[in-house]
Amino acid sequence: MLLETENIKIQSKGCFITLEGIDGAGKSTHLNWLVNYLQANGIKTVQTREPGGTALAEQLRNMLLHQNMHLTTEALLMFAARNEHVHKVISPALSAGAWVVCDRFTDASYAYQGGGRGLRYETLTALENIVHPDLQPNCTFLFDLPLDIARERLNAGASLDRFEHEQRPFFERTQAAYHERANQYPQRFCIIDSSKTIQDIRIILEQKVSKLIQAFKLQQC
Ligand code: TYD
Repeated sequence: MLLETENIKIQSKGCFITLEGIDGAGKSTHLNWLVNYLQANGIKTVQTREPGGTALAEQLRNMLLHQNMHLTTEALLMFAARNEHVHKVISPALSAGAWVVCDRFTDASYAYQGGGRGLRYETLTALENIVHPDLQPNCTFLFDLPLDIARERLNAGASLDRFEHEQRPFFERTQAAYHERANQYPQRFCIIDSSKTIQDIRIILEQKVSKLIQAFKLQQC
């Protein structure tokens, strides 16, 4: 059944939420809060991440984050990891009526491998059509922050991976690609100004997620 309430497209029993943004944009801070908020509202929630989310996909993550490789290999491994993740974790959870909150998904491939590395979008779309032709997030929070601030936050953190070591032009292209995705899918994307306080961001997340909860409750009636 497909129902549209408040511009929210509902295609499965559970709701699929993704969090995106350039490295250092602060999405991880909000991910745990969001999962706790959903659970406190009685919603069975699966928290997961990409690349990763299954034992095999976590091994691929380790390679992807730390070994140099051709850009097409990088995209193929991202989608190989995603294929495992979608089939073993995300789709079964959604079919069982759980909500899935995922730290990055295919928008990250368009932003990083497409925008950042310059891989053709057609190639990414072909991979997407193989791995999840019928699955899209119901809602994507894009954490958006000026590049200089994101870089400062990154440098203050733990050791950097292969992507985080990239230079400013890479992140400019990645961020521009995220904005392009958000413009292309305005119903699904919710852009969060990450320079706001944690408290203000929580209010925005809460408003959006309450609407999602209502929409999914209506679907069950
Ligand atoms: P990230 O989500 O930033 O993890 P952490 O917060 O633990 O550092 O790390 C994953 C990295 O992988 C990030 O730099 C973006 C990159 N990535 C891609 O390039 N393409 C993808 O499709 C995905 C899912 C991630």
